[in-house]
Amino acid sequence: MASLLLGLLYATGTRALDNGVGKLPALGFNTWNLYQCDYTADVLIEQAQAMVDHGLVEAGYSTFMLDDCYSLKERDQKGKIVADPEKFPKGMRHFTKSLTKLGFRAGIYSDAGYRTCGGYPGSYGHETQDLETFADWGFQYLKYDNCYIPFDNVTQENVYGRYVRMADAIEARAKKTKSQPVQFALCEWGWQQPWIWAGRLGQSWRIGGDIRPWWSALSSIINQASFIATETRFYARNDLDMLEVGNTNQGTPPGNLTYDEAKSHFTAWALLKSPLLIGSDMASASKETIEILENKDILKINQDPNVGEAIAPFRWGRNPDYTWDPAHPAQYWTGNSTYGVVFMVLNTQDTAQKMSFNLTESWAIRAGRVYSVYDMWAHTNNGTAYRDISLTLPPHGVAALLLNDAGPEPAGVEPYCAGYWQCSFPNGTYYSN
Ligand code: GLA
Repeated sequence: MASLLLGLLYATGTRALDNGVGKLPALGFNTWNLYQCDYTADVLIEQAQAMVDHGLVEAGYSTFMLDDCYSLKERDQKGKIVADPEKFPKGMRHFTKSLTKLGFRAGIYSDAGYRTCGGYPGSYGHETQDLETFADWGFQYLKYDNCYIPFDNVTQENVYGRYVRMADAIEARAKKTKSQPVQFALCEWGWQQPWIWAGRLGQSWRIGGDIRPWWSALSSIINQASFIATETRFYARNDLDMLEVGNTNQGTPPGNLTYDEAKSHFTAWALLKSPLLIGSDMASASKETIEILENKDILKINQDPNVGEAIAPFRWGRNPDYTWDPAHPAQYWTGNSTYGVVFMVLNTQDTAQKMSFNLTESWAIRAGRVYSVYDMWAHTNNGTAYRDISLTLPPHGVAALLLNDAGPEPAGVEPYCAGYWQCSFPNGTYYSN
């Protein structure tokens, strides 16, 4: 049982559930942003086909998540969830088989309360039965929401306890059937600090409420993520919510992201190692949208098989460090990767801005070295740098840089230490004196 296992995990100091699934962030599509409840199996398969046609599945976007509203409003006499025969006239198995044929893994949605957020049956008290149904239908991934939860005196447990119920069902089923556990994506909107405990139960957890396709919503999520960026690791991910890339002048309500905002959105989500689930229409997607979603340089960092940690802020930049500001989150971020040291610089201002940082502000940089600089948006090598990098970014624009060691600094560069505090000659004289 997950609850028993918990004690053991504590004992060994392991904080992520490594049950063999979901080591890296999930990439794919989620139906909610684009369709809400208005879809049929045919429409979804057309969407899946459009993803194949654009090379998105090949690029790694291979989880297809069926979100809310797929069932009838009431269970059958045996308490089983019934797929809506109008939306799925050939049944759910036919639907997941069609997805599998196109190269996808199928994912489904349920809820830890009585009803889903759309008012369809939720899995509270039916965890084992519903999991059986989902697995039988061919789903291998479960997003688990938090609407219509029972009264305290009914459950006498908290959000945590209701998610443990499903995590236990997943574990028990995997054991019983000797099959791979269903991947578990918790969605309790960051209510009760899921970044502390959800990694014991599943592979990702939403960190906040529902995303919207405009900048203030994105900057607010980035702000929230900046304080918990270090909680993401292999098998356990902060989920920043579905992507809004492509929802400019589209979607309900229609989005208004500029090209630069869409790039910043994708960069932050990917480098923070969030799951990346597309939520716009791929059949009518613009060339820019596809180019953003298929940025190989950035995707490969999201999917780094050797480095599980995400980038994290080293300096907030505009506000004092560690200041909560949904409109102006941290601007200077870094992390390590198999491919080099990663920097993300984000202009959170509404006007173009010159931005500068010292390389050794990044923990992953070696002091006293020269670095080659690769631009992960222009896909160009931009020469070498040591000590400082300065760049000018458009409003809400981003730079994503990959730095690699290119030898020692030229001799005699002053000051002798980029960070001079406590820097000293061998005889004990401070350099700064
Ligand atoms: C909640 C979730 C969304 C979506 C809807 C479906 O709002 O946070 O991501 O799943 O429910 O009703």
